[in-house]
Amino acid sequence: MKVGQAWKDASAKLAAGGIEDALMEGELLLRQTLKMERSEFYSGLSGELTTSELNRLKEFLTQRLTHKPSAYIRHVKEFYGLEFYVDERVLIPRPETELLVEKVLEMVHSRLTLRQAQGGEGLLIADIGTGSGAIAVALAVNLPRSRIFATDISGEALEVAEINCRKHGVADRVPLLSGDLLTPLPQPVDIIIANLPYVPDSELLNLAPEVRWYEPRLALSGGPDGLEYIRRLIDQGPAKLKPGGALLLEVGMGQAEVVAGMVHRYFLDVTVYSDLAGIPRVVGGEGITQMSLISGCLNLTF
Ligand SMILES: C[S@@+](CC[C@H](N)C(=O)[O-])C[C@H]1O[C@@H](n2cnc3c(N)ncnc32)[C@H](O)[C@@H]1O
Repeated sequence: MKVGQAWKDASAKLAAGGIEDALMEGELLLRQTLKMERSEFYSGLSGELTTSELNRLKEFLTQRLTHKPSAYIRHVKEFYGLEFYVDERVLIPRPETELLVEKVLEMVHSRLTLRQAQGGEGLLIADIGTGSGAIAVALAVNLPRSRIFATDISGEALEVAEINCRKHGVADRVPLLSGDLLTPLPQPVDIIIANLPYVPDSELLNLAPEVRWYEPRLALSGGPDGLEYIRRLIDQGPAKLKPGGALLLEVGMGQAEVVAGMVHRYFLDVTVYSDLAGIPRVVGGEGITQMSLISGCLNLTF
């Protein structure tokens, strides 16, 4: 069978099985079968598939028709221009999370204090709930003089993060730490960033089958109002930030205002950034209040 015909058939099967974007999904699975880049695929549509390639494509289609995400079938997901290994131990990095990376890079390049830190002992960053390590690795690649603590409560997720740190040659600058939120951090840092689970428990059942059936529940479920982890992280933040430090958090749709209010209890300057779809997606806090510094030293929350 010719590649073009196989693409047409595969897309039709996927569409009939209720898979969205069937044409694009068919292309991804066929390119994985043929191990081809996009341009090579488009110029090779009249080529013939071998029997073993046809069998491999059939196997990929069977998996995708169970709603297994293509990223878990192909074991690859692009994030911030880099390729990451992914499997069912970690959340598949989302495009909207690139905003967190972008805002950290902007902050580092525009703030004198942070630049000085980078020129001195080096900038210290903490990525909390690192999952595949996508955020930490993207930052390490783009900030070659920085050190990024990447933490997760899931030992399985840290195994995947380690694969990605090695793949991108940043393992020596990205220590992987196991534990709850900020507790594994050995010292205060300049910037804390986190994309923690934020789906309210009542909404878990409404998620697409790809997410609900395959992505780790630990990476999704944010408790009754979705803010269980975010709330705790904000309370712990000031004690683990250096003076002049900043906190940046990804939030779900409709959560930015409430989270901005929580951040304002500890930080003087609070900013909400929207993603490309116009959804308020990242809440940032800078300028820790004096009261937070005192209560952080005394281990108090208020
Ligand atoms: C939404 S995923 C984000 C993964 C990755 N940072 C990304 O953006 O693709 C949340 C991650 O937080 C981790 N996590 C959940 N509860 C945690 C906790 N109490 N402390 C640290 N990490 C936690 C999960 O295991 C998961 O890897």
